[in-house]
Amino acid sequence: MAIRLGDTAPDFKALSTEGEISFHSWLGNNWGVLFSHPADFTPVCTTELGMLAKLRGEFDRRNIKVLSLSVDPMDSHKEWVKDINETQKTTVNFPLIADEKREVASLYGMIHPNADDKMTVRSVFVIGPDKKVKLMITYPASTGRDFGEILRAIDSLQLTANYSVATPVNWKEGEDCIIVNSIKDDDAIKKFPRGFKKIKPYLRYTPQPNL
Ligand code: BEZ
Repeated sequence: MAIRLGDTAPDFKALSTEGEISFHSWLGNNWGVLFSHPADFTPVCTTELGMLAKLRGEFDRRNIKVLSLSVDPMDSHKEWVKDINETQKTTVNFPLIADEKREVASLYGMIHPNADDKMTVRSVFVIGPDKKVKLMITYPASTGRDFGEILRAIDSLQLTANYSVATPVNWKEGEDCIIVNSIKDDDAIKKFPRGFKKIKPYLRYTPQPNL
């Protein structure tokens, strides 16, 4: 059955460029992002993995473990990583699963047969410390992802988890957030010491609480 938001992220064991990974124990109490990449030695994927390596500090700062996957074999991954390091001027610093039998890809519905019956699409799964799926995005093979947007969405998820705020349209770091409707005004006064603007009973803005 298709994975939906709020589901427990399916656990698995898989071989990666950093050894065997038992997904849930590898995640520990961190957040996680699982990315699928359609194939090794392809141009868009090469740029994506290079950028992920460069952004490692941004993921670490948010306590997020990054895991990538392609359905090509380990030997191929190891050769491809050398190309990524050379062409993207970086060092790949996260594991890349060799999902030759498409076990993880099938578990997570990363193969969309009407798009391509062999390669995966570009899936993104963000998983919370409770192992629940918090966000899913799917791009076609020809469109490289915007990792700035993925980090922005994770910032929103973490604000919701930690401070009971949502983020409005086009929200960016530093901008006002929205108090979730389950918090009554009396509680909001205590919870958000910098106050809030009440535009409507259901539309209350407060300064980003973690700044
Ligand atoms: C790419 O990464 O460039 C790519 C992979 C599969 C299909 C199309 C593009």
